[in-house]
Formats: sequence, structure tokens, C-alpha cells
Amino acid sequence: MIPFSPSGEDPQPAQRRDLPEILAVERQSFSQPWTRAMFQEELAKVPSTLYVDRPGDAGPLRGYLCFWALAGELQLINIAVHPAHRGTGVGRRLMKFLIEEARRREAEKIFLEVRPSNEPALGLYARLGFEVLYRRPRYYTPENEDALVMSLSVPPA
Ligand SMILES: CC(C)(COP(=O)(O)OP(=O)(O)OC[C@H]1O[C@@H](n2cnc3c(N)ncnc32)[C@H](O)[C@@H]1OP(=O)(O)O)[C@@H](O)C(=O)NCCC(=O)NCCS
Repeated sequence: MIPFSPSGEDPQPAQRRDLPEILAVERQSFSQPWTRAMFQEELAKVPSTLYVDRPGDAGPLRGYLCFWALAGELQLINIAVHPAHRGTGVGRRLMKFLIEEARRREAEKIFLEVRPSNEPALGLYARLGFEVLYRRPRYYTPENEDALVMSLSVPPA
């Protein structure tokens, strides 16, 4: 388990002006990307569920993450890092932020779904202590790829 260490560059709540860059990264990252309307719906939520990672206020968007807060748990529903910044620790920073956010919201567990073929994502989640709970058959369309459901019991601060 890697301990959480807050950095001076924590992810920030997404703003409307972040949308073009978020959509660009989304379209480079997924075969079935979220639409503008889906992100707009998340942008409207208070407290925020969509966070962006960028250097300083005006630097280029490096990545983003979106989650839903349910009773006692958080569900990660989207995470992507700009292809040019992958492998540099952005995904890890976003996920550590999510774990910290779970603590702030007094959630005991974080859940997520991932394709068994997505080695970078599986590596990221496993490194942070997520474990596979079960396999959800033919979850991803149109390929009918299974999903692995993973969870993490939020560690104490
Ligand atoms: C998955 C993703 C978010 C990872 O983000 P990232 O910023 O590249 O990851 P990091 O640089 O923070 O790496 C953190 C850990 O992830 C794992 N990892 C990252 N890239 C990896 C790769 N290509 N292969 C295997 N493991 C990898 C490693 O365990 C790494 O830790 P280490 O460097 O100590 O070995 C990124 O690859 C991405 O945006 N992919 C496309 C969108 C996507 O698949 N989202 C997940 C949907 S479930």
C-alpha cells in the first residue's frame, strides 16, 4: 500500500472551461467515449464529482477523474490521463486524491470496474491496494468484454 501524501498540485473541481480539453482526452482514451452532455451533467453537481489535474491554473490538462458518492462508498466512474502524460504519475495522483476524498466523505469503500485487458489501469489499481471482487460477464459493449469489479477498503489516514 502506498501512503497518501498530499502534494501542492492536488486535483481541482472541474470548471465549464475545462470541457474542451476533457473531451479531447476522453476521445483519445476510450472506444466508447462519454458525450459532452454526460460531462455537463457531472459539472452541475455540488459538491463536485469531476476533478482535473493540471499544472497551476493555466497549464494544459493532464488528466481527470469522476466518481459518484453513494451511501458509505465511492464509485469511480471515469479516469483518463492525456496520452502525452501517461506513465508519469498523474493517474496515481488522481487515485490518491480519490482515496483522500473517500476519507473526507466518510466512505469506507471505493468500487470500480475495469476491462481485464486494460493492463495500465489494472496495474494502477492493484498498486494502490484494490482487489478484484468478481467478474461481470459481457459488461462492455459492443465487444462484450467482461468487467472486473474491484474494491478498496479505504485505509485510515
Ligand atoms: C490507466 C491510466 C489512467 C493510468 O494513468 P498513468 O498516469 O499513466 O499512470 P501512472 O503513471 O500514475 O502509473 C501508476 C501505476 O500504474 C501502473 N501502470 C501505469 N502504466 C502502466 C502500463 N503501461 N502497464 C502496466 N502498468 C502500468 C503501474 O503500476 C504504475 O506504477 P509504477 O510506475 O510504480 O509501476 C492511463 O493509462 C489512461 O488514461 N488510460 C486510458 C483510459 C483508461 O483506460 N482509464 C481506466 C478505465 S478503467
